[in-house]
Amino acid sequence: ATERTFSILKPDATKRNLTGAVNAVIEKAGLRIVGQRRIQMSQAQAETFYAIHKERPFFGELVTFMTSGPVVVQVLEGENAVAKYREVMGATNPAQAAEGTIRKTFSESVGENTVHGSDSVENAKIEIAQFFQDGDIVG
Ligand code: CMP
Repeated sequence: ATERTFSILKPDATKRNLTGAVNAVIEKAGLRIVGQRRIQMSQAQAETFYAIHKERPFFGELVTFMTSGPVVVQVLEGENAVAKYREVMGATNPAQAAEGTIRKTFSESVGENTVHGSDSVENAKIEIAQFFQDGDIVG
């Protein structure tokens, strides 16, 4: 089915001027960027977005990193977009990511792993609603 997923190009991507390079991989995989905005995440936004990781030892580090520079928030659309994007991103830890994936190609550590993608259609809806209004997504 045609789905939408939520994506973030993280501060390590924008810092290294990799927005276009990562978007090229996304588009080459057949996903369409139907919403996109470059923002500076506030601490409150990052804490809300990552609330499920609140008890993890790396939570503070994660929020600090995600607010350390601009991010690009995106809505990606395509056939099985949620699973397709997770395949294109590769494993959370770039050391374990498959050849040709975004994280294998661009990421330097598990913390600074270049991209976020929703893990389910349900979470994609929640995450998209946190950063986009209906009129800002054009399919
Ligand atoms: P993401 O898909 O954005 O969701 C949670 C994030 O936590 C994950 O990507 C990683 O960037 C980060 N993360 C996961 N494990 C660790 C870790 N061991 N140390 C630092 N950050 C981590």
